[in-house]
Amino acid sequence: MKFRELTEKIQELKKKRNAIILVHNYQLPEVQDLADYRGDSLELSRIAAKTDAKVIVFCGVHFMAETASILCPQKKVIMPDINAGCPMASMITAKDLSKLKERYPKAVAVGYVNTSAEVKAGLDVCCTSTNAVAVVNAIIKDSAVGARLPDGQGSAFSGKKEIIFVPDKYLADFVEKQTGKKLIKWNGFCPTHIKILPEDIKREKKFHPKAKVIVHPECLPQVIALADAALSTSKMCKFAKETEAKEIIVGTEVGLIYRLKKDNPNKEFYPASFAAVCPNMKRTTEEKVLWALEELKEEVRVPDKIRIRAKKAIDRMLEIV
Ligand code: 13P
Ligand code: SF4
Repeated sequence: MKFRELTEKIQELKKKRNAIILVHNYQLPEVQDLADYRGDSLELSRIAAKTDAKVIVFCGVHFMAETASILCPQKKVIMPDINAGCPMASMITAKDLSKLKERYPKAVAVGYVNTSAEVKAGLDVCCTSTNAVAVVNAIIKDSAVGARLPDGQGSAFSGKKEIIFVPDKYLADFVEKQTGKKLIKWNGFCPTHIKILPEDIKREKKFHPKAKVIVHPECLPQVIALADAALSTSKMCKFAKETEAKEIIVGTEVGLIYRLKKDNPNKEFYPASFAAVCPNMKRTTEEKVLWALEELKEEVRVPDKIRIRAKKAIDRMLEIV
């Protein structure tokens, strides 16, 4: 089927099914072009929670579709490729988290949104790369204020001095540096972002001496140290729009470059490394989007027993930010 024909069929079916297509910033260009909304993990979940559509076609990875299902269980969330997972999210299980909590019973458990629903169910608070620093700062403040109040008048974090942060050790390291708070870390990481090396940044800076450097906080600390800013994908889009710089070196999954160029045609964007490709993000194709709409499959649904607990951790994050 030709691309135009395919796109028309998708648009037609989308109306018929009362569906919207949500697309993460790392998806293939042709999938990004099908989007009703493009965004980062947090933005897409928020849109999922607000939409009137009955069906959400989630073009991203599994934990993102699960998060949408946790926030809006009455809607049907489908993934064009159910096997698109996030290796970092798979680096910690619910059992691992509960053992860690047993070891540090007085700690607040904070977890990156890149976790399974089962892991989220064991967290006190969730966070994304956009708000991880704000979430940890809020816990530090809350813990200190709560400790000064009489028993029972503080919040969930009153007097809790330790903070567990899972699964990304590099995001945790970034948060430690920004907040000054030592965290109890897990040994997780993003296999895509660690492919970006300090020498990549140095080389690109040499080629483009006037360029600003932005990187994702999932990058290696040595890479973050060379950047002008470490930002989530949505904040990178904002930075690109607002900066006066005409050239930007981008240290994240290469899929973001398409959106950056489209939104800012008068600026130049250079990927820090072409090796930074997330194979799972590339599993979704236009054909698979069409099949998903035709068959309303594969559905991602989180059982209520897990969903209700996981939602508490997400709601706490949304209250904080
Ligand atoms: P963002 O929330 O910044 O889009 O990041 C999601 C992700 O998986 C990064 O690798
Ligand atoms: Fe997971 Fe990394 Fe892919 Fe993001 S880029 S979905 S963190 S593997």
